[in-house]
Amino acid sequence: MMPLRMPLPHPVTTRFFSVQDVAAVIQQMGLPHVFERLAETIRTDYLRWNDFEKCARVANHSRDGVIELMPISDAKTYAFKYVNGHPKNTQGGLPCVMAFGVLADVATGIPEFLSELTLSTALRTAAMSVVAAQALARPDSRCMALIGNGAQSEFQALAFHYLLGITELRLFDTDPRATEKLMANLAHTPLRLTVCASVREAVRGADIVTTVTADKTNATVLTPDMLAPGMHINGVGGDCPGKTELHPDVLRASSVFVEYEPQTRIEGDLQHLPADFAVTELWQLLSGQAPGRVNAQQITLFDSVGFALQDYSVLRFMRDAAQALGLGQPIQLIPELVNPKDLFVLLQAEPHATATPMNKTPQPTAHHTQFKKVTLVA
Ligand SMILES: NC(=O)c1ccc[n+]([C@@H]2O[C@H](COP(=O)([O-])OP(=O)(O)OC[C@H]3O[C@@H](n4cnc5c(N)ncnc54)[C@H](O)[C@@H]3O)[C@@H](O)[C@H]2O)c1
Repeated sequence: MMPLRMPLPHPVTTRFFSVQDVAAVIQQMGLPHVFERLAETIRTDYLRWNDFEKCARVANHSRDGVIELMPISDAKTYAFKYVNGHPKNTQGGLPCVMAFGVLADVATGIPEFLSELTLSTALRTAAMSVVAAQALARPDSRCMALIGNGAQSEFQALAFHYLLGITELRLFDTDPRATEKLMANLAHTPLRLTVCASVREAVRGADIVTTVTADKTNATVLTPDMLAPGMHINGVGGDCPGKTELHPDVLRASSVFVEYEPQTRIEGDLQHLPADFAVTELWQLLSGQAPGRVNAQQITLFDSVGFALQDYSVLRFMRDAAQALGLGQPIQLIPELVNPKDLFVLLQAEPHATATPMNKTPQPTAHHTQFKKVTLVA
């Protein structure tokens, strides 16, 4: 007699990694260690730049926001992220940025790891900012202006504190409640926090300026008259056509570094500059093929938009952490079939029973008959 559950020639399991799982990774490993390992993972992946098949992300724009798909793959692993950007969402109690993503096996296409990426995006964005700043900011940088104190801001603040030695933050947000929230969240840290009345006041005396605002407009949060020699600018919030933060002359006054040039030309603050405006891709800088900061007076600028490779990095970091810490849940995202050509059997079988073996004709069952009836009625 045929057993109910046949051994599967190709078991298909997907591990689901929730928001709580990511929070558990941070609790168990500690945030400084997570940032350190994530920055290392990103750096390692950027040094393999030419192993990846890359493209600018696919963006579907609407009146108040954007929904984007971000694919990337190497010979072994494919990754994609779904992410939105809706600056007005927070007024209705929703995050501006929400995301999830997948790691899949290139050889078979099996989606092996399905993870939340909202929290993970904040982690990877801050880690990426630090990887760039470690190569571009003056090594004696201690004070950072943080313009925009929303969901991403604490992650930026702490990554720069832990990995770059920032000890003082000068804060500004058009919404004072956002700054109060940030102050409360960071009150237990050794960071010295100063609330400022304007961007200009926040930027004065800062070694690094991080702009991480959300507004669907071509804003000029930072203007060239606010710049000082030797500054490093970490421009995070200008990441979509028609959604920018920096006056074009800020870019003209700086040496500009980008993740993936074809995407940043469309989405970054770079969109306001002519196509021949020179920029350097980070992988060239990290691999030593292009110079970074050449003197203490130079103004450097990372025009961050968020590239699929950082999501590949954070997904593989979380997949490894899931394995090491025994976190996440197996889910049946893909059907398990004894005969891969018999998908139809799933409509007949008991829940959790598997399909007909190859080369065997299924015997009609009660379920089979029932299904036929339903189909006829429909
Ligand atoms: N580059 C990347 O990889 C990356 C990744 C994630 C998010 N982002 C972008 O970062 C930005 C911030 O994201 P979030 O999740 O923190 O959003 P959020 O809505 O939680 O916070 C944004 C904050 O910016 C403030 N703000 C808006 N205009 C301002 C201005 N002119 N001056 C000062 N403050 C201003 C808002 O009051 C709000 O508190 C968004 O634009 C998002 O698209 C970029």
